[in-house]
Amino acid sequence: MEFALLNGEIIERSEAMIDVEDRGYQFGDGVYEVIRVYNGKMFTAAEHLNRFAKSAESIGISLAYTSTQLTGLLEKLVIKNNLVTGNIYMQVTRGIAPRNHVFPAGSVPPTLVAYTIRGVRPFDNLKTGVKTILTEDIRWLRCDIKSLNLLANILAKQKASEEGCFEAIQHRGQDVTEGSSSNIFIVKDGTVITHESNNLILKGITKDVILDLCIKNNIPVKERTVSLAELDEADEVFLSSTTAEVTPVIEISGQKVKTGVPGPITKKLQKLFEKEIEKQCGVLVDKDM
Ligand code: PDD
Repeated sequence: MEFALLNGEIIERSEAMIDVEDRGYQFGDGVYEVIRVYNGKMFTAAEHLNRFAKSAESIGISLAYTSTQLTGLLEKLVIKNNLVTGNIYMQVTRGIAPRNHVFPAGSVPPTLVAYTIRGVRPFDNLKTGVKTILTEDIRWLRCDIKSLNLLANILAKQKASEEGCFEAIQHRGQDVTEGSSSNIFIVKDGTVITHESNNLILKGITKDVILDLCIKNNIPVKERTVSLAELDEADEVFLSSTTAEVTPVIEISGQKVKTGVPGPITKKLQKLFEKEIEKQCGVLVDKDM
């Protein structure tokens, strides 16, 4: 039996019902997080909960729980579901109210939901790398908010999937922004370069872990806009996310990245990232590399 967290209570997942007038369902009026679980422990939980609170605050939703309380509730959920390797999906919406674009009057309680998803690490992609396509970034200008509104992202990802690719690398004109559900990095002449964290991309938790690992391990790193021409001429390209970790990109719109195999700096960062997981969650039971 699987359990879910609904407004502070852990209940059977099949009994977690959402009203048709929940504003998340009707407007996508809410924010979310995906947290990775390794060895039954949450990875970078504080960072995710901090971003969750920030996203909620930026659209005027006040969470009824502190980060410490939420951590406790999510830990309980992981234990209740016997989750060893997988993800926690969590979202909060502006709550249930008669349909109206204007925020509901009075104090409508937000709807908070979390549940777990079992899933092993993406070993094949980590080892061999993934193919990608390029697509124009048609999203709004607050991509820093982890909004439930993912229409542009899913359209981009679907396009990638239909072309036999794992991810769509988005760009605004000549500037690379990020993947449909990941951050994008290039390596040029030994330097790791990725888009600065501003309103045009999500400040990825994995991205920040990677930047930190670069600094600690004397790998030159820069946060700045990367052009399509630079992407084209990169020595290595990789993407990062909570679920994809550090995934090599070996092809972009039918063109190989260099020789079309994962590069040395990407592989080094994968090893360092794995060590970081083990630091927080203990020696990985689900390990293949
Ligand atoms: N996506 N950019 C976008 C648009 C994302 O949706 C994500 C994550 C990232 C990477 O962020 P992080 O490293 O914090 O996971 C960047 C999650 C995993 C998802 O929607 O499933």
